[in-house]
Amino acid sequence: MSDLSNKHIVLGLSGGIACYKAAELCRALVKAGATVQVVMTEAAAQFITPVTMQALSNRAVYVSQWDAREPNNMAHINLSREADAILVAPASADFMAKLLHGRADDLLSLMCLARPVDRVPLILAPAMNREMWQHPATQRNMAQLTADGAHVLDVGQGEQACGETGDGRMLEPDEILEDLIAFFQPKVLAGQHVLVTAGPTYEAIDPVRGITNLSSGKMGFSIARAAREAGAVVTLVAGPVHLPTPRGVQRVDVRSALDMQAAVATHVNAASVFVATAAVADWRVADVAGQKIKKDGAGGSTSSGPQLNFVENPDILAGVAQSARAQSGALYCVGFAAESHDLLQYATAKRERKGVPLLVGNIGPATFGLDDNALLLVDAHGAKELPHASKLTLARQLVAEIARRLTPV
Ligand code: CTP
Repeated sequence: MSDLSNKHIVLGLSGGIACYKAAELCRALVKAGATVQVVMTEAAAQFITPVTMQALSNRAVYVSQWDAREPNNMAHINLSREADAILVAPASADFMAKLLHGRADDLLSLMCLARPVDRVPLILAPAMNREMWQHPATQRNMAQLTADGAHVLDVGQGEQACGETGDGRMLEPDEILEDLIAFFQPKVLAGQHVLVTAGPTYEAIDPVRGITNLSSGKMGFSIARAAREAGAVVTLVAGPVHLPTPRGVQRVDVRSALDMQAAVATHVNAASVFVATAAVADWRVADVAGQKIKKDGAGGSTSSGPQLNFVENPDILAGVAQSARAQSGALYCVGFAAESHDLLQYATAKRERKGVPLLVGNIGPATFGLDDNALLLVDAHGAKELPHASKLTLARQLVAEIARRLTPV
């Protein structure tokens, strides 16, 4: 199942140079499983042709409210009734001003006004010059449009077509896609603040060498994304991984287990849910060399190599689980267990040892670095399997399971 299967999106384009991104956005929506109906203003057709948008959406494009192709000649009614959402990208300053006043002198604005407000959400991706964006009139319009029930996406920051630099660019197509997918997810964690640890830790031996493990961070990043999609405020404490930050998630990069423990300590008091997916190194080198350790020069098999002494790292999850807030139920703790065999037995024992209400087991070697996984949830009442699926699918299921176990906020 793709993220937007069974979704019918009316993609509206108003006039602005960001129309060039709408072509890529249209492809991305189709690739994600949506059917896409493009509606353009005449101004938008100055920037990109209906031919291009028709080819990419595989449907005839509508521009005029006088389009005679509809048997009842009411394209604004027919198109808006079919939609799961109307996404206007780009939404120009002028188009938003027009929407605000309920004006309806072209097909796109007519369709937005005629949509059933309680059933067809209106999502706007603003795009304009930075001065236009900052202008009190635009900011006022946006606030009123939001109050009227529209969902206004963020804008990007950077170099603009006019040569100026600042806020107001339209988000990139992949960012709008991620926001739209999130929009459709149930908001089961609204009002919650979720803290997630993810990835491996890196324990230095000397300034250029260290010890780490094969955790890719993908499961933890997926959980951070799923929690955000579910409406939570999310802080992600990430060990050294090369993964993009999920949209809307606050990311704190760390290296060692001690760094991770400090970052968790900083953020845990604001959290209502703590999910520890990180593969924290169990030990660190006791005496990290200040300078690069050199070979002894003996060469070959006569070289003994450096002798390393280790000390055990603090157990971050167990420490948090023992805190007063966790014990009182104000903070719900979820642990992970990567095992190689006897998953149920080890996960059950680990849940008790760590003192957490929910422990999620997986077979480590079968999942490291991959996009798929299978999970076993163990709580006080028993075990439940979440069968093999993508990590993002499993993360969304896990988020729903966590939400069910929380006391309402
Ligand atoms: N964890 C942690 N801090 C550590 C070690 C583990 O927060 N120093 C967390 C992990 O993020 C995970 C859970 O504890 O949620 C289980 O980690 P794991 O390494 O599997 O457990 P261990 O206690 O190290 O048990 P063992 O190595 O014997 O399997």
